[in-house]
Amino acid sequence: LKLLDLHSAKERLLLGDVVAIPTETVYGLAGWIYSEEGLKKIFSTKERPFFDPLIVHVDGIESAKKLTSLWTEAHEALAQAFWPGPLTLIAQKNSLIHPLITSGLDSVALRCPNHPVALELLKSIDGGLAAPSANKFGKTSPSSSQHVFDEFADAVGILEGGPCEIGIESTVLGITQTDSGFQLEIYRPGGITSKMIQEVIQATGLKAEVTYTQSPVAPGQLKHHYMPKIPLVIVPQSFDWKRDRQLIEDQLGATFSFPIRWTQPADAHLASRELYESLRSFDQKGFDLILTSQTAEHSSEEWLGIWNRLEKAKTLRL
Ligand code: TXA
Ligand code: MG
Repeated sequence: LKLLDLHSAKERLLLGDVVAIPTETVYGLAGWIYSEEGLKKIFSTKERPFFDPLIVHVDGIESAKKLTSLWTEAHEALAQAFWPGPLTLIAQKNSLIHPLITSGLDSVALRCPNHPVALELLKSIDGGLAAPSANKFGKTSPSSSQHVFDEFADAVGILEGGPCEIGIESTVLGITQTDSGFQLEIYRPGGITSKMIQEVIQATGLKAEVTYTQSPVAPGQLKHHYMPKIPLVIVPQSFDWKRDRQLIEDQLGATFSFPIRWTQPADAHLASRELYESLRSFDQKGFDLILTSQTAEHSSEEWLGIWNRLEKAKTLRL
């Protein structure tokens, strides 16, 4: 592992290098927003297409405002309530934001991560850090420094911050001002649920509607993200391997010898913390197929983020 201390992480970022940084959600592959070289290196290192915009990480509300041309009451209320934390807010950008960050969109995604190491780094750097998850495009996201190392080896320096508490990427929220109030659209479900957002809306007296929407402008919401190395198949609870294996083997055109029937923990927070580690561990343990089921107890709103990732990670759903 190429572990960096805060000082050398900062130096590298300012010189246009990328550095893997810890956050409470997943590790990010960071580049300084004012270094075009650093921004380009994020895309090349991840093999990420340029049409997929990046999240800018800031040390708090004041820094976020400096990068935007419109910061509404809704942005203020939600950032006050959930920052630092796993909520990404979309806002109108200003000219400080490089077009590479937003894929040419006129809005920017902003988030203040709830992680002491990330916050200390961000406080020491002007502007902010653009950081997608530190994995190759389409692959499983990293929830520990070991995962980052498994993906990039020594090509990427890592700022160690321990295992990620939340374990899946932040909730991404679009905010539009309308005649009657605000339209809040959850483009990507995560640790902050619509219920939690509603509660803040009510407490602050804002007029706003919260919906779950596939973003028209968030191409990161493509299928075939988060994919583990071996096929993941979502099966009905009644699925029986001995009886039903043909259904899967016919559709995938392959035979499997070591399937694992994976049951997630009952607690959604624990399940999200362990999600990516689990997905990575099965092939390392020699299994060649992952089978899992969406039971009723795994279907409350808190589970939306997890199932969103599993739907994209899956090879097949029966
Ligand atoms: O938890 C997280 O959000 C992690 C950590 C590192 O902070 N970051 C992360 O970044 O997941 P990334 O690049 O994998 O996800 C960024 C996603 C894009 O794929 C897109 O869906 C959305 O955020 N996004 C970014 N800019 C946007 C914009 N201007 N409008 C709408 N969606 C945007
Ligand atoms: Mg990602």
